[in-house]
Amino acid sequence: MKNKIYLLSASLMVATFSFFSCVSSGEKETGKDEIEKKVENLLGKMTLQEKIGQMNQLSPYGSEEEMYALVKEGKVGSFLNIVNAEVANKIQKTAVEQSRLGIPVLMARDVIHGYKTIFPICLGQAASFNPDLVRESARVAAIEASADGIRWTFAPMIDVSRDPRWGRIAESCGEDPYLTAVLGKAMIEGFQGDSLNDPTSIAACAKHFVGYGAAESGRDYNSTFLPERLLRNVYLPPFEAAAKAGAATFMTSFNDNDGVPSTGNKFILKNVLREEWKYDGMVVTDWASATEMITHGFCKDAADAAKKSLDAGVDMDMVSGAFSGNLENLVKENKISEKQIDEAVRNILRLKFRLGLFENPYVSTPQSVKYSPEHLAKAKQAVEQSVILLKNTNQTLPLNADEVHTVAVVGPLADAPHDQMGTWVFDGEKAHTQTPLAALRAVYGDKVRIIYEPALAYSRDKQTTGLAKAVNAAKQADVVLAFVGEESILSGEAHSLADLNLQGLQSELIEKLSQTGKPLVTVVMAGRPLTIAKEVEESDAVLYAFHPGTMGGPALADILFGKVNPSGKTPVTFPKMVGQLPMYYAHNNTGRPALEKEMLLDEIPMEAGQTSVGCRSFFLDAGSTPLFPFGYGLSYTTFSYGNLKIVSGKLTVSDTLKVSVELKNTGRYEGTEVVQLYVQDKVGSVTRPVKELKRFQRVNLQPGESKQVMFDLPVSELAFWNIDMKKVVEPGDFKLWVASDSQGGLTTEFNVAE
Ligand code: BGC
Repeated sequence: MKNKIYLLSASLMVATFSFFSCVSSGEKETGKDEIEKKVENLLGKMTLQEKIGQMNQLSPYGSEEEMYALVKEGKVGSFLNIVNAEVANKIQKTAVEQSRLGIPVLMARDVIHGYKTIFPICLGQAASFNPDLVRESARVAAIEASADGIRWTFAPMIDVSRDPRWGRIAESCGEDPYLTAVLGKAMIEGFQGDSLNDPTSIAACAKHFVGYGAAESGRDYNSTFLPERLLRNVYLPPFEAAAKAGAATFMTSFNDNDGVPSTGNKFILKNVLREEWKYDGMVVTDWASATEMITHGFCKDAADAAKKSLDAGVDMDMVSGAFSGNLENLVKENKISEKQIDEAVRNILRLKFRLGLFENPYVSTPQSVKYSPEHLAKAKQAVEQSVILLKNTNQTLPLNADEVHTVAVVGPLADAPHDQMGTWVFDGEKAHTQTPLAALRAVYGDKVRIIYEPALAYSRDKQTTGLAKAVNAAKQADVVLAFVGEESILSGEAHSLADLNLQGLQSELIEKLSQTGKPLVTVVMAGRPLTIAKEVEESDAVLYAFHPGTMGGPALADILFGKVNPSGKTPVTFPKMVGQLPMYYAHNNTGRPALEKEMLLDEIPMEAGQTSVGCRSFFLDAGSTPLFPFGYGLSYTTFSYGNLKIVSGKLTVSDTLKVSVELKNTGRYEGTEVVQLYVQDKVGSVTRPVKELKRFQRVNLQPGESKQVMFDLPVSELAFWNIDMKKVVEPGDFKLWVASDSQGGLTTEFNVAE
């Protein structure tokens, strides 16, 4: 992490909008050839220093005067962390009117899961399995951020993340490459809108390229060791999808993979991104990741870091100063060529033209878009679809407001407006957050009596004094709602954890509440899957809300009282114990997979023979199964699957497999099921995962209603990087499941012929 320094005067940071509102909004998107011509024309007029200036991204530092002086001299191509329309306009006016060539500056910000209106963390959004909703959420974020002059976000984060010890799993779409690719594409479409040059569009940034999610032991910034085949089969696909979806920019990652830091990695930045994928967008480093290559022991000084970054294919240096301080000399010394610099500057100018910054550098969106009722409604919908019902014994939920008279609301997350927003919230204000306590009081307070006893002030709190009060409240209530989990500071960048149990005395709190014998509903707000086996056991019902953002409260209140039926599914495997990590459903088979029932610690007799527990792949203490598998989530209603059919006959690589299944709502409530299709390639030239998600669909059904759910799966999508490092479909037998989660389901087989 780094210090994000804001020394701009307070007067400038106050959002007052009017000055530039007369500026016309974006012109029609200029054609591709026309843009290329403009790029060449401008490039032809630039001095070497001006070119290097464009390759420099800064975060505000020093005095305002210094900042404007740099802009005037053409020494900065982009600022990150300016979040004020008036300041943004003033910078642009300086760039356009006072720098020699009048090149506008590109304003960037980490708009990760909302700008002012905060949506669920990305991992929560991923639980919705709803690309339309994810796209709309990103659109809202873009509209709000662009109102402050931000035209570039460092999102989506599409690192496949298989280890919840890694705090940044919160920013990801979870463990699955396909789900991540689909949702990453949706975010890009939402941020960038129909056309990049719409003033409400913001350029997306596919990050972190690549492999960062596989940081060893989940410790942030740690090394990764991903061989090329794994990289290509698992970690690269979401990025390829992002490139195809037109993500305007890519960001390199902090990790060194097999000894090569991404910012200096020619193979991924040149061979894969530029040559194989024909990417013509712009590549930025992560925060100072160019000079961090010195600390890695990969570069000897900043000049070496600048050369290695440029040689690898980086266009813009985020804040390290490596480019601005060294490129000119490197050219003079013939260590790099001006042609290389031109290539990078082309990518930067192209983006600025695409964004329409030359035609309209100024902000013209009214400030009133922030926290608009439509945006809040969309955020509420996003929470409604991302909350996962993990357990619901005896139909404890939904609560019936006519039968429940007194509700005890307890736990440190019941009324934590800051923490429920989650990580990467620089701009959302807690004054706008609607907490569960506030929403329960506002919406259901006239129907039920609410007793509030937080018990603990925050998630790590170890003070015992409040526990008895909470237990007392529970004893007076018909049902107990316990809001536990993690504060926002416990997940996100540089916030890895080695222990994923509930922090502080939260576990004790749940235990004591459960001992009252009152129906106990536990609601978890967290940035990652926590190891909550014990608390799940002790609770009657469990809802997992991740960090739900601004509208978490109203959505959860409606879920608890049955106005909304939960439909979220786990986008990542929930382990029973940390020692099982990394744990993901799409693993390869061992030669000795676990049996359905393994002998665990307590069942092993004394002095048992060495091989008496079998020689299988499992943990003696944790077994082989997770607490909850990927794709898991219950509903207040029930669904049955039947009549799985595939169009059989001879399938070849150019065919499309047609799959249909009958889904029936067999319960009492209207509900939505995420129907999932998994495939296993049974025999490959290299071992293949036991199953892989290939399609999913959200299906809404009334009680008693059934629907034929159809999937089209082009056989070409069964291709993988094989023993010859070629992406091919290997003919042979495949197994297919249509299921409610990654375990079980209806199954059949098919064959792909030569
Ligand atoms: C993070 C990036 C982020 C950047 C800019 C870095 O520390 O790794 O994800 O976009 O900072 O704030």
